[in-house]
Amino acid sequence: MTHEQYLAIREDIMQWIAKRLKKGRFQHTLGVEQTAVALAQRYEIDTQMASLAALLHDNAKNMDMEQQLLLCQQYFPEIGLSSQYATVLHAFAGAAAAKQRYPQLPEELIEAIAYHTTGRAHMGTLEKIIYIADYIEPNRKSFAGLEKARKWAQKNLDRCMALILQQTNEYVMMNYKPVHPLSIEAAQYYHILSKQEMNLSKSEKKEGKK
Ligand SMILES: [Fe+2]
Ligand SMILES: [Fe+2]
Repeated sequence: MTHEQYLAIREDIMQWIAKRLKKGRFQHTLGVEQTAVALAQRYEIDTQMASLAALLHDNAKNMDMEQQLLLCQQYFPEIGLSSQYATVLHAFAGAAAAKQRYPQLPEELIEAIAYHTTGRAHMGTLEKIIYIADYIEPNRKSFAGLEKARKWAQKNLDRCMALILQQTNEYVMMNYKPVHPLSIEAAQYYHILSKQEMNLSKSEKKEGKK
């Protein structure tokens, strides 16, 4: 995508989401974009993709539930979504709506929107960045674990994923809601992966000292 094409599509997305989202949600979206672009620079991936995925990630947040569910079942029948998982529907519905409106966008970007709430095992860098940026963006009011997540976002994306997934799953359970199976699998996956990475870097440091 050329810079001109990026600017044109960004402008169109801004107008679209400004109409679809409530004011607070729009502000949050701009915070996610700012954070996602900074993380994309830090981890050396395409900043244009990070910007567009971030702007689109919550596009279905204020859509009515029936419509969200319909889009989910039409575009993501394999995920097993029902009104039982009300808070995660907007992510998959938003990915479907973005795909309908912007068919030229790559699948990787659509997936970053789709999995920004549940997470999943084996996420790509763009997916992880959108998931994390959503959690740590500057408009978030302070809560337990936020600063820790911000710190890990700069150091190691997998460790940061493990931390956020664990905190989010605990929060969902504390509210007597079911945790989506994708989030349970993702939490286990990133817990083990980040432990392995940390052990590896410890033993590399030891080797260096010898
Ligand atoms: Fe969301
Ligand atoms: Fe969000």
